[in-house]
Amino acid sequence: MCGIVGYIGTQAATEILLAGLEKLEYRGYDSAGIATIWEGEVNCIRAKGKLHNLRSKLELVESPSQIGIGHTRWATHGKPEERNAHPHMDATLRIAVVQNGIIENYRELREELKAKGYVFRSDTDTEVIPHLIAESLKNLPSPTLATSPSPFFEAVRQVVGKLQGAFAIAVLSADFPDELIAIRQQAPLVIGFGQGEFFCASDTPAIVSYTRAVLPLDNGEMARLTPLGVEVYDFAGIRLKKQPRLLNLSPTMVEKQGFKHFMLKEIYEQPGVVRASLDAYFKADWTAANAEGSPVNLNIDGEIFSDLEQIQIVACGTSWHAALVGKYLLEQLAGIPTQVQYASEFRYAPSPITANTLTIGVTQSGETADTLAALAMEKERRQGKEAKYQVRLLGITNRPESSLGHMVPRIINTLAGIEIGVAATKTFIAQLMAFYALAVDLAYRQKTVTPEKLEYIINGLRQIPKEIEATLESQEKLTELLAHDFAETTDFIFLGRGINFPIALEGALKLKEISYIHAEGYPAGEMKHGPIALLDAKVPVVAIAVPGSVYEKVISNSQEAKARDSRLIGVTPIEDGEAAEIFNDLLPIANVDELLSPILTVIPLQLLAYHIAARRGLDVDQPRNLAKSVTVE
Ligand code: M6R
Repeated sequence: MCGIVGYIGTQAATEILLAGLEKLEYRGYDSAGIATIWEGEVNCIRAKGKLHNLRSKLELVESPSQIGIGHTRWATHGKPEERNAHPHMDATLRIAVVQNGIIENYRELREELKAKGYVFRSDTDTEVIPHLIAESLKNLPSPTLATSPSPFFEAVRQVVGKLQGAFAIAVLSADFPDELIAIRQQAPLVIGFGQGEFFCASDTPAIVSYTRAVLPLDNGEMARLTPLGVEVYDFAGIRLKKQPRLLNLSPTMVEKQGFKHFMLKEIYEQPGVVRASLDAYFKADWTAANAEGSPVNLNIDGEIFSDLEQIQIVACGTSWHAALVGKYLLEQLAGIPTQVQYASEFRYAPSPITANTLTIGVTQSGETADTLAALAMEKERRQGKEAKYQVRLLGITNRPESSLGHMVPRIINTLAGIEIGVAATKTFIAQLMAFYALAVDLAYRQKTVTPEKLEYIINGLRQIPKEIEATLESQEKLTELLAHDFAETTDFIFLGRGINFPIALEGALKLKEISYIHAEGYPAGEMKHGPIALLDAKVPVVAIAVPGSVYEKVISNSQEAKARDSRLIGVTPIEDGEAAEIFNDLLPIANVDELLSPILTVIPLQLLAYHIAARRGLDVDQPRNLAKSVTVE
């Protein structure tokens, strides 16, 4: 939540900062602001609402400044008003600060500062930082420590030692116009190296148009950016030797490429995501007849999988839905009892573990505060126990360079590429693919399934990309037409059973988060235990009916909804017989094995949500109140 960016170099900073913030807007868009240094003064401009409001304001200001910091906000402390927008400044308006995260002890710091006569202009936790730096500069011994590169750096370093919480910060001062200080403590921050210009940002898309040489800071590190280069220190002020690496990301990957919205582009990228996952996870030459070793290559040492008795998965939102599909696969294929927990609940009431329990954290961003905290807690409670406990932690993430990647040594990288739309689509499909690979691998290790069955599953998976392509082609128009009918609908119900129950949840989540229509997902068999009371002609029901263990049951449950006058939309490969009679509308998919069906059934639901939101004229990529990375509890 919140995006920060900083620039120091030879070009005009304002446009670079704005372009960077545009790429970070997915992290929050309640307000935006930038601070630059020009003619010995800090020039700070802020605006409530989205970045275009800030742009309009900046058109009136001319500043060829070559240093600056910027921020796009997701409000935590203080309403989304201009006075709470970042950057925040000290009393003399010489120091400007942007922050992503939360300063947990800000109340006591604020009281201490107030007692010294400091006056606060905002309700934010961040405003304590510029005041503390000003105070620290005042009290700095002269001359400053010989080991410190500059008084400004030293003052900032001393303040960082007083801050508690998870944060990334960028600071500049009109009195030190050739320095920009960037700090990371449990919130992402990457440094970019250009030709005579240097950057810092919450995420790489903000700087990829200027440089691909990047250095992600680790927790407890701070960087001093000057026109001459970048120095990295730890919080004790010890200089560290660090080398940038080359980013595997091109500027076009973070463009819409002709699509109206990032979400639509990302929906269409899903066949490619499945192909990339198949290539990476499954051995091309493995066959049942030649079943030497696992068909899966996850690059994880087998130690964490030996004698597994139980798996517990922690995640939030869409990742939690992917984990529910994972549970089905892990239990039904590999025979391992699996629990899926909301990370925010698990942290305060963890299930008991044994030495043979594997804990998996799933987070596309790798920055979700609840998931990270749950894993940190899990890591801690395993410490001091025998080695078996300690190795059984696994992360599944789309951003291996994230905080999760730093925290958990064993990671399955999902291969979605960067996702910009706030509503997760292709990262969900990528997570499903990771679970298919993990379940097949464990089924092989546990010998719960014959090699022939594994080969059948893998061959089925290999057909999926072209089935998604066909679904996209056939559903684009159909879902757009349906969206026309449902643009004014206020409630929706999604039904699924078995492996498609999580898809019903995901369909409902997609719809509510981007169209603001109330939607609920239920296991179809549960309807009669209460929720059926909600149904009438005004409440459409989307039912996922895939041939297999629960097809007849879902059809019966759909009948029950129909009897209450609901308009029924069927996501199903069966277009005739009973299905044709019951469903008012069909969203047909290919007839694949039930076990593989979630990768297909979710596609029409993503498209339906997209078209309804677009039809309602809503901001599909940046829905209200949301942010892509939820880095607060
Ligand atoms: O980055 P994560 O996968 O940990 O994010 C978890 C949720 O915040 C996320 O899935 C959220 O629910 C999305 N907006 C869903 O589209």
